[in-house]
Amino acid sequence: MARPRVLIDTDPGIDDAVAILLALASPEIDVVGITAVAGNVPLDKTALNARRIVSIAGRHNVPVAAGCAEPLSEAVAEDSVVHGHDGLGDLTWDEPDVALDPRHGVELIADLIHEGPLTIVAIGPLTNLAVLLQRYPDIDKGVEHLVIMGGASFQGNVTPAAEFNIWADPEAARQVFAAEWRITLMPLDLTHQAFLNDADLDYFTSLGTDVGRRVARMLEPYAQFHERWYGNRDVIMHDAMAVYEVLDATAISKQGVRVTVETGGEYSRGATFIDRRRDHAQSQVRVGLTVDNDRFRAVLRERLATYRD
Ligand code: RIB
Ligand code: CA
Repeated sequence: MARPRVLIDTDPGIDDAVAILLALASPEIDVVGITAVAGNVPLDKTALNARRIVSIAGRHNVPVAAGCAEPLSEAVAEDSVVHGHDGLGDLTWDEPDVALDPRHGVELIADLIHEGPLTIVAIGPLTNLAVLLQRYPDIDKGVEHLVIMGGASFQGNVTPAAEFNIWADPEAARQVFAAEWRITLMPLDLTHQAFLNDADLDYFTSLGTDVGRRVARMLEPYAQFHERWYGNRDVIMHDAMAVYEVLDATAISKQGVRVTVETGGEYSRGATFIDRRRDHAQSQVRVGLTVDNDRFRAVLRERLATYRD
């Protein structure tokens, strides 16, 4: 069976960086492109960070393109600095030796879809995918699988009602969920089951590689943020869950659902209403339910250990 061709749409982002490095080190998939979107930090930074990550991974053949700088919905400032000012924990970086692809990110995605079966892993706000649908009606029918990190069944993170990726552009999310692609959604209630601890950070440092050291150094300020916000240093690997689903479809239990997105609401912007009633059991939209964190951590450690300087 051919390895799935995978496009990662991302707003790096510290957990995005770990997810992308996991994907690039995994032989089960073929990462054929990375597109940046504004989210954790503005587009100029997410695009630079995507180039930085591909550069330290040594994967110079993977095209990186910049997508949308502004959401479809009215932009709302979010002042908590979760991923550092540069989006990757404010480390020192050499200039990446991966240039930006000249195409707009949406055009790169469209080209990749037209070239053959494609799985899209969306781990930032969904603006690029909504614009893709606007520019190429019915293109959703040509996508093999769309895996999204976003939403929350019960409790949000950027507000009590909403998870960040959906909150940042709820209109884009509404359009994406209204289309006809096969979607698997990894919401916060799933991703909070997947986290790394200080032993993992020490392990990455002990690898003695640039990737290992950088991942540990990026995760340190993220662990401090988690301690302030959640009361412990366990760093939640939200975005890696979307990659993990493509690596091993047996790793995360799932069920059919119907998802609706709140686009208005003074306090409920970006809320996701995930309807798990049996009527939707055969839906082509599924939600992740449970994951074994120890199994995930072992896979992540093994894959990041394959990087060499
Ligand atoms: O809510 C978690 C999501 O928001 C992740 O994609 C993280 O990178 C942040 O963008
Ligand atoms: Ca992200």
